Amino acid sequence: MGGPSIKGGADTITIRQAERSQLTSLARLHEGHALFRRYALETTALADALAQALDAGDGVLTAVRAGERIGFAWWSPRGAFSRSPYLRLLVVAAQAAGTGAGTALMDAVEREAFARAADLFLLVTRDNAGARRFYERRGFEAVGELHDYVAPGVDEVVMRKRRKASAPAVVTAPPG
Ligand SMILES: CC(C)(COP(=O)(O)OP(=O)(O)OC[C@H]1O[C@@H](n2cnc3c(N)ncnc32)[C@H](O)[C@@H]1OP(=O)(O)O)[C@@H](O)C(=O)NCCC(=O)NCCS
Repeated sequence: MGGPSIKGGADTITIRQAERSQLTSLARLHEGHALFRRYALETTALADALAQALDAGDGVLTAVRAGERIGFAWWSPRGAFSRSPYLRLLVVAAQAAGTGAGTALMDAVEREAFARAADLFLLVTRDNAGARRFYERRGFEAVGELHDYVAPGVDEVVMRKRRKASAPAVVTAPPG
């Protein structure tokens, strides 16, 4: 099934729901980023976590360009405070960074999250300046900090984006 696409021709990025058979190759995408070494993230463990996430009803979206999966976003509908959508992980292949995949993935996550809730939360490593700028430009606001939380010695910034007042919740209802 197709998803929303941006750009045209060979540069087109399509966002799709991830399939179980793709999770290991998606998990591998994190290996190109030094950032994740600080979290001692391992590909097999991440692939297992993504499989459990799918079982639990989380969203795992992939960005596909020219038949290649170049990024993924993992989000939990009530992952923040058992109440609000929470972006668990956003990863774009290092060689594809800066080419629009992160934007396309976040557009899709926000569309799904804000269709059912008024807020979306995430954590970003405090010194990950590029990602913080990326989220700030999208309207995320730093609302707190967590020290030694996800990994020892690493500081996280809690970011929140609120649904625009002009974008009401959209729900799918049964006929009637
Ligand atoms: C942060 C990230 C998801 C952005 O995705 P992307 O596909 O590179 O982003 P886009 O091409 O849609 O947008 C580019 C913007 O992202 C930001 N950015 C962050 N890291 C970047 C990187 N390594 N290379 C290029 N742009 C980066 C820049 O602000 C850039 O804006 P600019 O072109 O005006 O400078 C991606 O670079 C990535 O996977 N980084 C490593 C993992 C990470 O930090 N994840 C987020 C926290 S969990």
